[in-house]
Amino acid sequence: RTLGLIGAPSDVAAGCRGATMGPEALRVAGLGDVLAGLGYSVNDRGNLSGPVNPGGPRGNGYRHLAETTEWVRLVRDEVAASLAAKELPILMGGDHSLSIGSIGAAARHCHEAGKPLSVLWLDAHADFNTAETSPSGNIHGMPVAVLCGDGPEELLSLGHARPMLDPDHLVQVGVRSVDMVEKRMVVERRLRVFDMRTIDEIGMRAAMEEALEAVGRVGGHLHVSFDADFVDPSAAPGVGTPVPGGPNYREAQLCMEMIYDSGLLGSLDIVEVNPALDWRNSTAELAVDLVKSLFGERILARVL
Ligand code: ARG
Ligand code: MN
Ligand code: MN
Ligand code: MN
Repeated sequence: RTLGLIGAPSDVAAGCRGATMGPEALRVAGLGDVLAGLGYSVNDRGNLSGPVNPGGPRGNGYRHLAETTEWVRLVRDEVAASLAAKELPILMGGDHSLSIGSIGAAARHCHEAGKPLSVLWLDAHADFNTAETSPSGNIHGMPVAVLCGDGPEELLSLGHARPMLDPDHLVQVGVRSVDMVEKRMVVERRLRVFDMRTIDEIGMRAAMEEALEAVGRVGGHLHVSFDADFVDPSAAPGVGTPVPGGPNYREAQLCMEMIYDSGLLGSLDIVEVNPALDWRNSTAELAVDLVKSLFGERILARVL
């Protein structure tokens, strides 16, 4: 299987700058070599080139809506090209708004192939804000809402259908920071969330069994959207919006191993890696360790 690496160096939808360096940090940490070492053929498609961060204020509820829209469009088209080439696309962000593009492309691809799409969203945040509920106006806090049909026309119109994603086909894991009004929306729209309270009570293994059972029931193509702030900041310090109390290194590894074992993975985002806030590229290195497990690395050889 060929994996398509797509760099999207944008931080226009984040609250602080630096996720622009994420793709290069992941390459420097050996992402391509590690995947090749597992036996995949790797096609690094290079970095997309889009608008620079203008450092503008919030206007009409959003910061940098025009720039974000342009980046999402670029990502959508490159992920679509990768899928059309029968690759498994790996989006290297960049901030989390870019997932509107990668998941939008996966949704269209699945629609045309007549197979269902499900999404596993690994994140400290629900990313379910709208202009009305967002405390910041930062669009990286809004992609799940946009995918589920709630957001600005500019972004909604980039999809092949509305909503781009059936909210019933989305599962979130690791959530521990949800804004006041956002909380109500998550409950009202009945999102399936394995939050940290649940993970503390039942453990990562049972949480992932249930989560994968839910996406497995949908069948078809699974998109995994991995926000580096999913992992506890003690292991992943290089992120713009760290939240304490996340999965530790071992729990994150188990999570990735279980996704691999499900055999469902069809596309991946690695977003919000911010080397400007990091300690010696440790967050990109952690992400590469986790991706290794996600693509089949085992501690011991499998018995045939
Ligand atoms: N909930 C906060 C906001 O809307 C933080 C969102 C963080 N999102 C992320 N993709 N890191 O501004
Ligand atoms: Mn996120
Ligand atoms: Mn997050
Ligand atoms: Mn359904």
